[in-house]
Amino acid sequence: MQIFRKEVVGLLKDLIEMDEHELAMDLETPPNPEMGDFAFPCFKLAKKRRQNPAAIAADLAVKLPGSDYFERIEAKGPYLNFFCNRRLLAKTTVESILAQGKAYGQQEVGKGQTIVIDFSAPNIAKPFGVGHLRSTVIGNSLYRLYEALGYNCVGINHLGDWGTQFGKLIVAYLRWGDEQKLEKEPITYLYELYVRFHREAEKDPQLEDEARAWFKKLEDGDAQAKALWQRFRDLSLAEFKRIYKLLEVEFDSYQGESFYNEMLDEAIKLIEEKGLTSISEGALIVDLSEENLPPCLLRKQDGATLYATRDLCAAIYRQRQYNFAKMLYVVGADQSLHFQQLFAVLRKMGYQWAEDCVHVPFGLIYYKEGKMSTRRGTLVFLEDVLTKATELAKEIIREKNPGLKNKEDVARQVGIGAVIFGDLINDRIKNIEFDWDKVLDFTGETAPYVQYAHARICSILRKADSWPASYDATLLTNEEEQHVIRLLARFSDVIIRAAQTYKPSLVARYVVDLAAAFNSFYHRCPVLQAEEASRNARLALIDAVRQVLVNGLYLLGINAPEEM
Ligand code: ARG
Repeated sequence: MQIFRKEVVGLLKDLIEMDEHELAMDLETPPNPEMGDFAFPCFKLAKKRRQNPAAIAADLAVKLPGSDYFERIEAKGPYLNFFCNRRLLAKTTVESILAQGKAYGQQEVGKGQTIVIDFSAPNIAKPFGVGHLRSTVIGNSLYRLYEALGYNCVGINHLGDWGTQFGKLIVAYLRWGDEQKLEKEPITYLYELYVRFHREAEKDPQLEDEARAWFKKLEDGDAQAKALWQRFRDLSLAEFKRIYKLLEVEFDSYQGESFYNEMLDEAIKLIEEKGLTSISEGALIVDLSEENLPPCLLRKQDGATLYATRDLCAAIYRQRQYNFAKMLYVVGADQSLHFQQLFAVLRKMGYQWAEDCVHVPFGLIYYKEGKMSTRRGTLVFLEDVLTKATELAKEIIREKNPGLKNKEDVARQVGIGAVIFGDLINDRIKNIEFDWDKVLDFTGETAPYVQYAHARICSILRKADSWPASYDATLLTNEEEQHVIRLLARFSDVIIRAAQTYKPSLVARYVVDLAAAFNSFYHRCPVLQAEEASRNARLALIDAVRQVLVNGLYLLGINAPEEM
């Protein structure tokens, strides 16, 4: 589509008083192909010229020089609609996909720029719940999207490995801890202790004070506290890494909250020196009333630091370390206030780059009875979800394709793909109700549906024993073929839009649409049975679809098995 877009700009630029960049930005994609491939809205010109937009569109349609790139250019109301030359569109699209392969869709707009993506960040000694799945899969997809745009991406797992909860755990472990249980099932057991702490603390509020005291000891470097903390951290991290391996998610850094311990004093000093701090009820705060925000707490009365203190320190550190063009925090919408405060303090400190920090929020996962809560013990363990989904995929495979080789691998790719996709297809900001049946439903708009279309193409290509030495893609002009081609041609636009709006859901929607377009094409147009010239062109077309499905699923963090 790129070259067609350039041609539109080239044709229009001499006829209208707008610069090329602005013109390109204003070009729209009509809602359906009967209205063309590009639409140029004349409202802006109408304002400038004080003329009726429809009259301008009609006038431009007459004045435009002819072009081989377009079959027709028509005025329709206030819009000027451009219809791509079908043959040329088919040829350039299919040929460039097959030539570029995995790189098709990639661009260089981000070249030389770094983007930091803070995502996943589960809390040590707590289970990896399905709530953290959201941050993990959205963050991972954004990482891959920005990489496709040429950015240098730095994925940071800001582990929740510091904070008052460690005081609670230490108290619980010292009171009720059982060494053997801890060794056997670390996170489940630590989680039990954590839930028990909260249950007992309701009866005995004294426990909370004790926990605070232990956390203070930890912050002051007490050896016993430190050793217990280290142990909990190591055990938890080993379990988390097992999940990341299943999900095929990687990080460039695991610098979590505790990493900043030694730097906190310096960061606080920096804020104090700028005259931004004050004391309120014994605590050190930054007043944000000018911003209409509650104050940001830096130090509690007992001297302990907070989540926000560590985030401030981390932001400053990362800016120095990576000199990022942008930093994304992929964190639930329930932390919006925290990030508003964080960015407000950074702005007050005079950091220009505070404008480049973005909170990418997402809706919560609701469990039937309400929000999942680590404290109440109503959390669904992610590992259970992944195992269940894989089991279900295995059952289906055994039933439908018992002869399949490497069943285990395929079942994993399908089951886990379904879980990832089931999350990403949702508009990020919406709350999702966690529903086992839905997560394990492989029909409809799901990863298995897309993966199945891909496997089907692979199977057709395998059956086409002789691969065409040459093909003529200009033959691909019927409605079904053109529908597929238009979608293929828009892939890089989808990547840009998904990255700009931080919405992997656009890519998820796109691959479903592409799989559906392929299915209806294949339903109506024979491939292997078609006469030779058409057979060759269609084989090239479906090979292009195969490639783009692979590339699209990759951007979501999902594999595409060749057989299933
Ligand atoms: N550990 C936090 C949580 O589970 C998320 C951390 C997000 N990242 C950050 N820089 N605050 O709520």
